[in-house]
Amino acid sequence: MMNIALPKGRLGEKVYQILEEAGYACPSIREENRKLVFENPETGVRYFWVKPSDVAIYVERAAADIGIAGRDILLEYQPEVYELADLGVGKCRMCVAGKKGARESRNQTLRVATKFPKIAKSYYSALSRDIDIIKLHGSIELAPLLGLSDVIVDIVETGKTLLENDLEVKETIVPISARLIANKVSYKFNHEEITRLCRRVDGYLNKEAVR
Ligand code: PRP
Repeated sequence: MMNIALPKGRLGEKVYQILEEAGYACPSIREENRKLVFENPETGVRYFWVKPSDVAIYVERAAADIGIAGRDILLEYQPEVYELADLGVGKCRMCVAGKKGARESRNQTLRVATKFPKIAKSYYSALSRDIDIIKLHGSIELAPLLGLSDVIVDIVETGKTLLENDLEVKETIVPISARLIANKVSYKFNHEEITRLCRRVDGYLNKEAVR
């Protein structure tokens, strides 16, 4: 059985569809219930739903052979895993955003609210800019609105959250998409199965791209 960690939620459903089309179906996963583990001996896969930010941990620690994690999570936590493919879904970008029209003062330490302190630190350190990180866990957009921070470093997908809160993108740091990752030991010992899966996924994505 190949153990596959899927990110719970909309992205996970898209990713499952890709894997299903690539020949790794597991019909029971589509049943409406609260189970977390699903397997199909016929296709040799066992899927489990994992909180998106935890997928890399399951893969790094070999609880899963492979998994699908956003590039944001890989950049932030730098897990010891192999990155095998860009699935081209879950596309968004990591940005610096702040109040519309607001100009930051270069003389003061910039207060940056974020769920991604490592990404924010490395971005500003490359600019030799002193910052004060304010680590939050969600609704990051509130921080500049309430004066908790000057800017935020966060994910922008449609831009709707920023727009509806009178905020704007100041800089784009890096584009993000979902990546197929593998545990390093599993990759070595199940090389054939994992590369076969990659080939099939690739084949499906290429076929879709020319449609
Ligand atoms: C993410 C991100 C932004 C929002 C961006 O939040 O942190 O808040 O999505 O999407 P948009 O550009 O399409 O509006 P998420 O939904 O993960 O919730 P969170 O506030 O708990 O981080």
